[in-house]
Amino acid sequence: MLKFYAKLCGVWVGMLWSQVAWSLDLSIEPIQPIQVINTNPAKVSLGKKLFFDTRLSHDNSINCAHCHDLTHAGGADHLKYSFGVEGREGAVNSPTVFNAALNFSQFWDGRAATLEEQVNGSVNNHAEMASNWEEILRKLQPDKDYQKLAAPVCKQGLDADCIRRSIAEYEKTLLTLDSRFDQYLRGHESAITAEEKHGYHLFKLYGCVACHQGRNVGGNLYQVLGVMANYFDDFPSNDKASLGRFNVTGDEEDKHKFKVPSLRLVVLTPPYFHDGRIEKLDETIRSMGKYQLGRQIPDQDIASIIHFLYTLPGIYQGKSLEPVKQGQE
Ligand code: HEC
Ligand code: HEC
Repeated sequence: MLKFYAKLCGVWVGMLWSQVAWSLDLSIEPIQPIQVINTNPAKVSLGKKLFFDTRLSHDNSINCAHCHDLTHAGGADHLKYSFGVEGREGAVNSPTVFNAALNFSQFWDGRAATLEEQVNGSVNNHAEMASNWEEILRKLQPDKDYQKLAAPVCKQGLDADCIRRSIAEYEKTLLTLDSRFDQYLRGHESAITAEEKHGYHLFKLYGCVACHQGRNVGGNLYQVLGVMANYFDDFPSNDKASLGRFNVTGDEEDKHKFKVPSLRLVVLTPPYFHDGRIEKLDETIRSMGKYQLGRQIPDQDIASIIHFLYTLPGIYQGKSLEPVKQGQE
């Protein structure tokens, strides 16, 4: 009997030890779980109404959700380039707004330092909402609903600053929490399958984590597209947007540098790259191998990495965003 208890005790200590050893390992993982951001509920309500209000656009035709669809397109729009007021086509692919609050800057070239500043970009962009603050305030300030919502939030009433801050506050609630991968990081080893773990192992082994890392699995670095092979020789572009970060700094070294995109919702947001050139995820990863790593990644490894990427979307408003894997419908 004593022997049995000693054994049980041993098993228990062993389990405890493996837990400790395991969580210590995870503390140095290159990816961290997404955590809730504290927000002011009154400001969020105002921001939400604004996000869905078409009056932010010149001809009252489109709202933010037009290109950042939260329910059908993972916070983006599934188009190569988005269409703004009067069907004007943009010059880059729309990124997701989900988890944008975790990025160290906004836009592909990081020209907006904050979410607040980003709103100016959307509102004024000729190929997006094509409006301006004077026009927007003229439309929204007389609205009684806005007066009521803004009263507890903005001392000075609804002005451009209040609108920017409220939309940014709402965007801080657009987080995809508790993904299977985050559960795994938090110590639930069975939250992801052996195949998905292998994919994560390869994601680290190939060096994807050198660029796609942190809470958002991206969004915290600028990197040249074409570190190991010249992307823009292969796909020449006269578009100014293809110069990336150079447009902001004027620094030669920043030519073709882009903010490394988050891969949190990547399985939901084709097409890929700033130029929306590639529709398929496997082809995108093959390109990453060629242009960023100078490696030809075998198909089998690409498939495993995709399995890992499926574990990254989390839950928004109680609903899992993780899509059904192809072939499992
Ligand atoms: C016509 C389509 C369109 C509309 C309308 C639109 N956006 Fe965007 N949004 C885009 C595109 C395209 C980009 C990328 C532009 C770039 O990087 O130069 C973008 C970028 C962003 C980003 C940066 C994300 C990142 O990871 O860098 C945020 C945040 C964002 N939009 C929020 C908004 C908000 C808030 C509104 C409403 C005020 C809005 N968008 C309206 C198309 C649109
Ligand atoms: C040297 C940095 C770097 C490395 C290494 C790297 N990436 Fe990227 N990745 C980028 C940049 C920069 C972009 C954006 C390119 C663009 O469109 O301008 C990107 C884009 C992507 C995209 C498209 C995302 C979107 O929303 O359009 C995927 C998917 C991706 N990378 C996966 C990977 C995988 C998987 C690996 C490893 C095999 C990897 N990356 C390695 C920097 C890197």
